[in-house]
Amino acid sequence: MARNKIALIGSGMIGGTLAHIAAQKELGDVVLFDIAEGIPEGKGLDIAQSAPVDGYDSRLKGTQDYKDIEGADVCIVTAGVPRKPGMSRDDLVEINLKVMKSVGEGIAKYAPNAFVICITNPLDAMVWALQKFSGLPTNKVVGMAGILDSSRFRMFLAEEFNVSVESVTAFVLGGHGDTMVPSLRYSTVAGVSLPDMVKLGWTTQEKLDAIVDRTRKGGGEIVGLLKTGSAYYAPAASAIQMAESYLKDKKVVVPCAAYLDGEFGVNDRYVGVPIVIGEEGAERILEIEFTEEEKQMFEHSVAAVEDLVEACKKIDPSLA
Ligand code: LMR
Repeated sequence: MARNKIALIGSGMIGGTLAHIAAQKELGDVVLFDIAEGIPEGKGLDIAQSAPVDGYDSRLKGTQDYKDIEGADVCIVTAGVPRKPGMSRDDLVEINLKVMKSVGEGIAKYAPNAFVICITNPLDAMVWALQKFSGLPTNKVVGMAGILDSSRFRMFLAEEFNVSVESVTAFVLGGHGDTMVPSLRYSTVAGVSLPDMVKLGWTTQEKLDAIVDRTRKGGGEIVGLLKTGSAYYAPAASAIQMAESYLKDKKVVVPCAAYLDGEFGVNDRYVGVPIVIGEEGAERILEIEFTEEEKQMFEHSVAAVEDLVEACKKIDPSLA
């Protein structure tokens, strides 16, 4: 049986963490790509040397040559620059758009059948541009953000209720920016919605509002603490869940930046919505219904994505 091949485009902190988790889970053989000579080779070798102790058989290779990603089943893209304290994700649009162009061309040439997961910020615009630059089918190119934002939301909620994180489900929808929409109605503790948890006296609306606000600023909180870059453990774990669901046809239902072709009233844009991930990639969109208030928040978030896409088109007219 052929082993799966996972190409990690970008070998910084998220790329290295992705390689480690993918190898430990034996999702396949791992290729770490980066333009910085020595980094992917060093990280690949280091992780490979932990394999005898941990007992896994993934092979790891570091490279600066796109040819080495040839035939990859999954490509996870973290290439580009992370933000620093004081910056917004949107400040990265110009510099990271250029990176998406060369990554898209590399994937189109060597791994046109891959399932592509984009992590580079500003996420919703970068995954849109990456799909255009690569020309891959829209169901095979998705953005990782909703799982990360929802995981942050779940963690904060579990802390508030003093329950296991496993008992908390959450959906954070919309764009991966300050306008994201953590949904109270579609988030639960063991199936009980958050408005009902307020009614049951387990929390207050004020506390939930503070958790929503902290979730929206979750990435910035980590950037402020790390000072030299942005989060990597939780983003890597989130992308691995997506890759695993694709490779094993698990069909998990998770919020991701998916291509909308009329769903939710949005056309030709990537926005965070619940999708099923299976062997066909983004197989199906769960088109949940919004209240009037939720609809307004979602539309506000889509408008922020729209602005970034327009900025991309101005920077690179080939996208217009
Ligand atoms: C995150 O949410 O952790 C990432 O989008 C990185 C960032 O800049 O916040």
